[in-house]
Amino acid sequence: MQNFISIADVQDMEALTNTALSIKKSPFGQADLGKHKTLGLLFLNPSLRTRMSTQKAAMNLGMQVMVLNIQEEGWKLEMQDGAVMNGTTVEHVKDAAAVMGLYCDIIGIRCFPGLVSKEADYGEVILKKFLQYCHQPIISLESATLHPLQSLADWMTIKENWNHSRKPKVVLTWAPHIKALPQAVPNSFSEWMCKADVDFTITHPPGYSLADSFTKGATIVQKQDLALQDADFIYIKNWSSYEEYGAMPTVNDNWLLSNEKLALTNNAKIMHCLPVRRNVEVTDTVLDSENSLILQQAENRVFAAQAVLQNILTNKVF
Ligand code: CP
Repeated sequence: MQNFISIADVQDMEALTNTALSIKKSPFGQADLGKHKTLGLLFLNPSLRTRMSTQKAAMNLGMQVMVLNIQEEGWKLEMQDGAVMNGTTVEHVKDAAAVMGLYCDIIGIRCFPGLVSKEADYGEVILKKFLQYCHQPIISLESATLHPLQSLADWMTIKENWNHSRKPKVVLTWAPHIKALPQAVPNSFSEWMCKADVDFTITHPPGYSLADSFTKGATIVQKQDLALQDADFIYIKNWSSYEEYGAMPTVNDNWLLSNEKLALTNNAKIMHCLPVRRNVEVTDTVLDSENSLILQQAENRVFAAQAVLQNILTNKVF
């Protein structure tokens, strides 16, 4: 692959996932592949897992890694082409991206949505500027609309925990939260599950439909209790409204994932990308139960990132 910003960049999802699973068994099998190559990680937003797992993946391949928390440590970027830069922005993205492209062989970018303009966020304005100007392969570290490294790790985790001949029932459930969150993780998880060999259901309260472009093939069920019946995997995640963009329409029913909800399922495994607001989205008892896969998902982030880096390093002409 040339870039990794959505599942559309992946030629063979099963081959990539199997590569990630085999890297997990032997993480240092290609320890020289990235020798004398530099990965630049650019964060416009906070991160724990994505930062550390991608850095560790690059180190496992022998790469050097440079991290820039540009909001705190860099110049304030101008995104508008042709802008007269006499305000608060100091550096145009076309210059910053081009310079980073000179220093780095692959660039990862985290650029969350503003949740103000659906057009700007779903147009992936920042990501596209870097694609246009940096002239190096780009890996999404979570963009305005998608989080493919998370989804690859999630699909690895489901495969590791499913050895039956029938398809597993996977349910993505909306969860409560105290603030408006992006739709990137649910969009991305849905995109991957709609291509995976699973029976996939999404459940959410009224007003929280995801964009149709990411949910084609999913069964949408508005009653959470109904959706959870016979579930083998439950993916818990909050997101803000796509329709009433960035809003948090009032929810009257109780969507907290608790032991009572778990009892409706086929002893389902519990998934969450983290960070999680404990006892707001899902109870401690569920998160800390033997059904919980949250740490396995986080662990798999390393091998997902390593599979993607390995693929790009192997295919790139240096
Ligand atoms: N799941 C995830 O992307 O975690 P971070 O935001 O900590 O990177």
